[in-house]
Amino acid sequence: MPLPKAELHLHIEGTLEPELAFALAERNGVELPYADTDEIREAYRFEDLQSFLNLYYELMAVLRTERDFEDLSNAYLARAAAQGVRHAEIFFDPQAHIARGVGMGTVVEGLWRALGSSEENHGVSTQLIMCFLRDESAESAMETLRAAEPYLDRIVGVGLDSAEAGHPPVKFREVYEAAAALGLRRVAHAGEEGPPEYIRQALDLLGVERVDHGLSCMEDPALVDRLVRDRIPLTLCPLSNVRLRAVDTLADHPLPAMLDAGLLCTVNSDDPAYFGGYVGDNFDAVRDTLGLTEDRLRELARNSFLASFLEHDEERRRRYLAEVEAYAFP
Ligand code: ADE
Ligand code: ZN
Repeated sequence: MPLPKAELHLHIEGTLEPELAFALAERNGVELPYADTDEIREAYRFEDLQSFLNLYYELMAVLRTERDFEDLSNAYLARAAAQGVRHAEIFFDPQAHIARGVGMGTVVEGLWRALGSSEENHGVSTQLIMCFLRDESAESAMETLRAAEPYLDRIVGVGLDSAEAGHPPVKFREVYEAAAALGLRRVAHAGEEGPPEYIRQALDLLGVERVDHGLSCMEDPALVDRLVRDRIPLTLCPLSNVRLRAVDTLADHPLPAMLDAGLLCTVNSDDPAYFGGYVGDNFDAVRDTLGLTEDRLRELARNSFLASFLEHDEERRRRYLAEVEAYAFP
């Protein structure tokens, strides 16, 4: 039995495996510029975040109907459950779909067809976090927030993703103020490729409660002190960092140093179809390559539930935490 855990940094579009991409392409009459699944996997040699995003947005063309988003989500939830995920807070990128003529309603209703019954079907509780694309304008983000208003009973919070360099959090200050006024929780990718300053901006100007990645904080000891003091969770994605070359090799990943510094780290998969593994695979990789002890692995699992947006159901959080403490490593 795998270690029980929450996954807090997972782009649902990043769970699109090549087999499902071809099945949906056929169902929807979409032509993919790849001969077969091997050819897609050969394209998984990324130089940086942007080279990954190019493929990620290209393959999304196959997602067109509610049923597509439902099938994508059910495939993820089944894999996540098999790797010990009890709770998942799932990102989606509505602008990438709206730009292709697929409306907010199709995306959210489709995702919900799987998420709404995920506890019964997969034993995984879920929440949805709507991300703004930071390489699009602040006006576009605000329009997206307005388009989401009819669906806010299904969306726990907002996030910020896509190409980080040159798109500092300050650009989205007003949008995050508007999201906060609607009662939405706030997270943002910061410090994946961007400098520590972007993490500071996410905290100070966007009011984020969790930082996605946050890797570059290690260049700024005063920022580390602040993140430790304020117990700001970081959603790290080790296999993603290797594939997108944020670190040279997994052995160079700062996760052990971050834990030693007292940071509230979690381990997540980001875009598991593209980066060589789901969240359990990320746990296994950091155990094997970074030599994390059972105590450290349990701490990561505990942190994932402590950092979850489960304030509406503290009884559930207690149950999940009790499972982590009771877990016997094989
Ligand atoms: N969108 C999907 N995956 C992402 C990542 N790792 N960083 C930024 N935006 C993303
Ligand atoms: Zn991400």
